[in-house]
Amino acid sequence: MLQLDDLSFAYGSVKAVNQVTLEVAEGSIHGLIGPNGAGKSTCIDLVSGRRRPTSGTVRYRGRHITDLSASRRRHLGIARSFQRISVYPTLTVADQLDLAARLVGEQDVDAIVAALDLGQCLSVTPAEIGYGEQRRVDIALALVGAPDLVLLDEPAAGLSREESIALADHLAALVRDRGMTVVLVEHHLEVVYRVCDRLTVLDHGAVIADGVPQEVRRDPQVVAAYLGRSAA
Ligand SMILES: Nc1ncnc2c1ncn2[C@@H]1O[C@H](COP(=O)(O)OP(=O)(O)OP(=O)(O)O)[C@@H](O)[C@H]1O
Ligand SMILES: [Mg+2]
Repeated sequence: MLQLDDLSFAYGSVKAVNQVTLEVAEGSIHGLIGPNGAGKSTCIDLVSGRRRPTSGTVRYRGRHITDLSASRRRHLGIARSFQRISVYPTLTVADQLDLAARLVGEQDVDAIVAALDLGQCLSVTPAEIGYGEQRRVDIALALVGAPDLVLLDEPAAGLSREESIALADHLAALVRDRGMTVVLVEHHLEVVYRVCDRLTVLDHGAVIADGVPQEVRRDPQVVAAYLGRSAA
């Protein structure tokens, strides 16, 4: 579904993403994890088209999309949410969803509203709802237009453990029902192990492990990176 080959990106002298090669299988929830500053969000930016790599390629369903704009990628079926909430503060939730639906030509957002349990929030603005609901609105906006590949950057940031698990279960159900593929950046490892089919672990911009969660969680390099003992 998605293939990154030797992908790199630098902010000046900081190599945020360093020769990353990875493959995401269709229909999977693929976790992208790693310590703070590992390069996860930058990787998502390179896939969504928000940034262009310094070198390397991005392929989606076998097609090179490395040089396509973010909006072209959205039309091809790649959508994303942001690590910081990107909802519009002054529009009601219903208006935001309608706006997004009109932009991508979707007829019906009811299924998304139901799946993310947003029925109670439709007539209010994000300022009037809780943080957990705001995060779900952000995910709902990414799901409008039935994208095939959804990139979620810390959808559970700021949520409690219970809220994070509930959100992850919502996501897993959506993936099953809609046949989507998800790349999930997530800090709560319990959530990652619960819903991800496969994991790629980044540290200092590079892939240090890749595989099924049961293997990756035992990998000594991964354990070291999470304990903050990783060498550069
Ligand atoms: N706009 C920017 N300008 C300069 N450096 C940046 C910028 N954004 C990120 N970086 C640096 O690039 C590296 C990778 O950052 P990135 O945000 O991709 O990591 P991350 O894995 O998403 O981290 P976090 O878990 O904190 O969200 C870090 O060293 C970070 O300080
Ligand atoms: Mg990040």
